[in-house]
Amino acid sequence: MNTVNIGIIGTGAVAHEHLRRYRDINNCSVIGVFDIDYSKSSQFAKTYNIPYIFHSLSELLQCADISGVSVAVPEKLHYEVAIQVVRSGKAILCEKPLTIESVESAKLVEEVKNFNQINMVNFSYRRIPALKVAHDLVKEGKLGTIKHIDATYLNGWLTHTIDGDWKTLPHQLRRLSTEHGSFGVLYDLGSHLIDLVTYVAGDIVKVHCETKTLPKGDVEKIDDYIFDSNDSAIIIAEFKCGALGSLNISRWGTGHKRRIRLNIFGDNGALEIETEKSEDQINLCLDNDVINAHFISTNCPSVPNIYQLFVKGISDNVQPKPSFIEGHNVTKILESCYLSSKRNETVEIN
Ligand SMILES: NC(=O)c1ccc[n+]([C@@H]2O[C@H](COP(=O)([O-])OP(=O)(O)OC[C@H]3O[C@@H](n4cnc5c(N)ncnc54)[C@H](O)[C@@H]3O)[C@@H](O)[C@H]2O)c1
Repeated sequence: MNTVNIGIIGTGAVAHEHLRRYRDINNCSVIGVFDIDYSKSSQFAKTYNIPYIFHSLSELLQCADISGVSVAVPEKLHYEVAIQVVRSGKAILCEKPLTIESVESAKLVEEVKNFNQINMVNFSYRRIPALKVAHDLVKEGKLGTIKHIDATYLNGWLTHTIDGDWKTLPHQLRRLSTEHGSFGVLYDLGSHLIDLVTYVAGDIVKVHCETKTLPKGDVEKIDDYIFDSNDSAIIIAEFKCGALGSLNISRWGTGHKRRIRLNIFGDNGALEIETEKSEDQINLCLDNDVINAHFISTNCPSVPNIYQLFVKGISDNVQPKPSFIEGHNVTKILESCYLSSKRNETVEIN
């Protein structure tokens, strides 16, 4: 099997996860990095023994040995970096959300068609085994017609220190500040939740969203990071299947590291995923259990993660999901939520 050589653009916090995941794959090697801050890329390359440290994006993109690229720069820069990667003809795994604005994600979808290369968005929770089972059950109609959806993503990083103290971490301070390109928890955790909900339950056609920015102790900023991006978002969503759903997202999820919960209710059955309890188990209420209102816990087989899908996609020249099409869909919903929260009105998704 030929080795797939990868380059990473942006060597901040999440790049370490990219590196670790690629290193777990037999026929894959990370051979080059580029960061706008050369001291960061050179430190990263030294830590992981990576041969090429590029001085510019174009230098990395001209490297013929590299066939696939991870884009791990801040959200606001995804478009300007991704469009250059796409036009270079290299396969691309772009961090989430694909872009901030849907005109940009639409343009990327159009460009990847022209350049015909493998394209993916790092909606990393697709690796959760229970999600795939949920997706398949809904698709096969086992739950009947979906009537109601209740989804949550809570992360308490403003109150816990499991991933470090946010007050000392630039990549977390950046998330709190619109001036530094943040669109708040809505775009950050919300992009994951919207992806997984639509993956399982199908398209969202209408949203009403409220967001809230809350005080963080008695300081309103640290250095030049002003704490003005949203911390909590609640989305009321109407799905194409007719169901109504609520999506509850917050970084004030005190006590939780990463709580993703998904309940889908149909007229013939229901499912429940609670990732903090188990990513490999799904609670199902199906068939005769429906009239007895009884759930049974079921084990789910493992599924490949995004990095494995990306590398396999390059090796086999087969386009995996989630691609830029799913990324564009999520950006359209995020953008509509953002508009809804600003205007205090319901917004239809075009
Ligand atoms: N999929 C996930 O679960 C997940 C988890 C965390 C972060 N993310 C995403 O990853 C991206 C990066 O987040 P992070 O926490 O690593 O941020 P970070 O600030 O720690 O790292 C970003 C890096 O990009 C570099 N950079 C900035 N502009 C650049 C440019 N024009 N060219 C090259 N490098 C540039 C910065 O110097 C920095 O090293 C964000 O889009 C974020 O939403 C995704």
